[in-house]
Amino acid sequence: MVPNFMICYLVSCFDCSALVQLTMADNGSVNDDTTNQNSEIIKTESAPIDELSREIQETLSVSQRHKFWETQPVGQFKDLRDTSLPEGPIEPPTPLSEVKQEPYNLPNLYEWVTCDMNSEETCLEVYNLLSNNYVEDDENMFRFNYSKEFLQWALHPPGYFKTWHIGVRVKSSKKLVAFITGIPAKIRVQNEIITMAEVNFLCVHKKLRSKRLAPVMIKEVTRRVHLENIWQAAYTAGVVLPTPITSCQYWHRSLNPKKLIDVGFSRLGPRMTMSRTMKLYKLPDSPLTPGFRKMELRDVPSVTRLLKTYLLEFVVAPDFDEMDVEHWIVPKEGVVDSFVVESQETHEVTDFCSFYSLPSSILGHPNHSNLKAAYSYYNVATKTPLIQLMNDALIVAKQMDFDVFNALDVMHNEGFLKELKFGPGDGKLHYYLYNYRIKSMLRSSELGLVLL
Ligand SMILES: *[C@@H]1O[C@H](CO)[C@@H](O)[C@H](O)[C@H]1NC(C)=O
Ligand SMILES: *[C@@H]1O[C@H](CO)[C@@H](O)[C@H](O)[C@H]1NC(C)=O
Ligand SMILES: *[C@@H]1O[C@H](CO)[C@@H](O)[C@H](O)[C@H]1NC(C)=O
Repeated sequence: MVPNFMICYLVSCFDCSALVQLTMADNGSVNDDTTNQNSEIIKTESAPIDELSREIQETLSVSQRHKFWETQPVGQFKDLRDTSLPEGPIEPPTPLSEVKQEPYNLPNLYEWVTCDMNSEETCLEVYNLLSNNYVEDDENMFRFNYSKEFLQWALHPPGYFKTWHIGVRVKSSKKLVAFITGIPAKIRVQNEIITMAEVNFLCVHKKLRSKRLAPVMIKEVTRRVHLENIWQAAYTAGVVLPTPITSCQYWHRSLNPKKLIDVGFSRLGPRMTMSRTMKLYKLPDSPLTPGFRKMELRDVPSVTRLLKTYLLEFVVAPDFDEMDVEHWIVPKEGVVDSFVVESQETHEVTDFCSFYSLPSSILGHPNHSNLKAAYSYYNVATKTPLIQLMNDALIVAKQMDFDVFNALDVMHNEGFLKELKFGPGDGKLHYYLYNYRIKSMLRSSELGLVLL
């Protein structure tokens, strides 16, 4: 019934495959072109983790690569079954005075800059770099087209560090050719709340991909994170590295099936016609739940309470306060949308749902240039059934002209995906913690964290 989605569309995977490259190339003797090996690895996705581990060890023909990871403060495959290892930081913080004070060296023609994303001019340069050079699907049919407003939102949470928005320019022309960012986030692992960095938007201009900029950029952002006395990070990748805390799958719900099929995002199911497919995905014109309305600033306290309680159910989840909710959840046009259900009797907010807007450019198609995608963010249902709440989310996303609604199988999402006609994507998204060991891998439903 559900068409097969052809693309392996892994959010934030480029940044992290570059993370592999970074760390690999940390040692000059190691080849940094690991992408192909890793896409082989991904084919083993259904294998249990120790089988994966063995296959990975076998795939790593370059022994230094293996050695390299053994030197990093990340969970190791060989330790996966060793439950005697303590949970928590793998390495203690080093004294701040021992953190390297000067930036890492770049190749001679390039220089570091700190990007002031509040400057329209700089933000436009970053936008242009990303919209032309950032993540594409495997078949180069789509490329993320994060909007300027989205970037400003994503990079300016409460307590952000401007110095973590790092660019690389060509010295002579000042052209921006690479970018990487970190933002601070309080993330709870079991009962410990840890301030971490979330690293994202690593992008190197296509023409400079062979110049080994990515590794030094990741080292530089790590150094700047350490300078703020922060020693842990959370990140995602489309490839298997030592060692995921969990592996998730993307699911896609067609809102505009004709366009998705026309542009090659999905294909017509067997024995399906276009008109039957359009009927299958048809949604009501307006939300069905009484009291379902757009979230407003005045809802921040109740949404924070709902979210805090809900996120305690998960092993790894952000620790949001009202300031975080005001930043991350209150609707921002064209960036993030949130809806609450307000009880008709008590006027209490009992449920909410949210999604962010991350369009992609459609490459080389004669009739369509922009794919409008909504991504499920945080959803909490206490009175309204989750399926009904998310059906209303689909309805409003359709009203807003999104073509597709994407969701990971994290939190309680498995409870609505099949029922609401989401189809599984063919890629995985792996979550990692840097310098923090957890005792055993989580199920994706035990994860309460969505990274942009
Ligand atoms: C890099 O690798 C070489 C060869 O394996 C080794 O001798 C050297 O110590 C390594 N350097 C660092 C900084 O790890
Ligand atoms: C683009 O639109 C034209 C006119 O509607 C149609 O004939 C053509 O098949 C479309 N091209 C693609 C690749 O969908
Ligand atoms: C990318 O998004 C911008 C708005 O942020 C839009 O103006 C532009 O047309 C989009 N690019 C493509 C190729 O769709």
